[in-house]
Amino acid sequence: MSFNPLKEKGIPLEKQLRTWEDISKRRFNKYDVDCYSRTRQILMNGIEVEAWNFKHAFSRLCGAEDTLAFLAMTKKFEDSQQTTINWMKPEDQTILETTLGYEQVAVDLTAWLAQNEPDDYVKETYNFGLLEDFDHLYRYSQWAYLEHGVNPNDIVQNMTDIVIGRPTQFHHNCNIMRLRKPYDKETAEPQTKVNILTLVSAEQQTHNYYAEHGMAYGNPTIRGTYAEIKDVEEEHVNMYESLIDPTESLYEKLLLHEFTEVCNYYTCYKDEDCDMMKPVWEEFLAMEIGHLHQAAKLFTKYDGRDAEEIIGDKVVIPSHFESQKEYVQNILENEVGKRITSDKGYTTVDELPEDWVGYKIQNANSKDGAPTETTIEVIAVQKGRDLTIADEKLVRIQPKLLEESMQEDGIAPNMISVEDYKFMTDKEFEF
Ligand SMILES: [Fe+2]
Ligand SMILES: [Fe+2]
Ligand SMILES: [Fe+2]
Ligand SMILES: [Fe+2]
Repeated sequence: MSFNPLKEKGIPLEKQLRTWEDISKRRFNKYDVDCYSRTRQILMNGIEVEAWNFKHAFSRLCGAEDTLAFLAMTKKFEDSQQTTINWMKPEDQTILETTLGYEQVAVDLTAWLAQNEPDDYVKETYNFGLLEDFDHLYRYSQWAYLEHGVNPNDIVQNMTDIVIGRPTQFHHNCNIMRLRKPYDKETAEPQTKVNILTLVSAEQQTHNYYAEHGMAYGNPTIRGTYAEIKDVEEEHVNMYESLIDPTESLYEKLLLHEFTEVCNYYTCYKDEDCDMMKPVWEEFLAMEIGHLHQAAKLFTKYDGRDAEEIIGDKVVIPSHFESQKEYVQNILENEVGKRITSDKGYTTVDELPEDWVGYKIQNANSKDGAPTETTIEVIAVQKGRDLTIADEKLVRIQPKLLEESMQEDGIAPNMISVEDYKFMTDKEFEF
């Protein structure tokens, strides 16, 4: 039976006030939380931050009293939901451990979205971004081990591979070149719209988390690694948000934001096994249905259209988490050498023109070296090789992956060579 949130009974706005205790009390145990409960907690925090941010932006552009009243009240509710979810993260989960969770969200969520995306161009963009977050997971894993003695697999729990991807130093591009073609709001499916808003929210929160936490470490290479990867997350927000049709009205965007919240809570509620989190997803789903009903009324009043024309008559599933190893391995083996072009398309490293704009950015940013490359040097000095957690087959092709992603230009002076990497990865890593 399909679930039509426009027809479901939610919690009316006047019943959405919660106590301080209820808002702030929940925490998971980092030793026994399922990795995908943690990814849901990370994702839904990002979804709430985006809902709240959007409503503030809308409020600053709006003169209608009834809309302002709705936004004012629900900004408070989105904010309280955000607190409840974000504060589930326990005090003893280190910044780097949380960071591995963020990158696991990015890899497994993007892979799910790519396979459930009806628009081929959007799908190609997801596959492209996927390999970048995949490499971030690998770089941060080195530091989680070196700095805290953490086995990264305690976080990803065998669900996500940790090996080199498209090297992070090659992710830096001109942010103008990152801009992609937007979907057409009249023909795009609700699934496409919800998928993009979901991923934009996740990437934005990843960026914000790195921005707020990278300075907590004294080690200059960890700081540099956060600065470098945070910049890529900025590019990801920029890239994914550019897929959204800019001609949607603010009321249409409001409707889509509430619908995205509904769809994600619905998915979380269906998938969740954690006794502490499941009732939260259920309650927040009912709250979001309440928001959606009001947003639909405002949309009809100001845009003169029916909400169902935009969001359809059933939820979509934007965030189911399961192991995506096979899918990611396939993209890795086939697309590691892919790059973006100035005409919003894609190409491969061997086809890049000499004046490719990405080279200019990379040469400027990495003139004195890339911290994400120093990361490999540091672990190699201490352990003789890098830390990888993946099937034997994948570990064996690491030097080949590096070779296929190598560019002619834009290479940081400290970048590891394919030969050195081959030599290094012939050794065993001992924990
Ligand atoms: Fe919300
Ligand atoms: Fe990332
Ligand atoms: Fe990202
Ligand atoms: Fe909402």
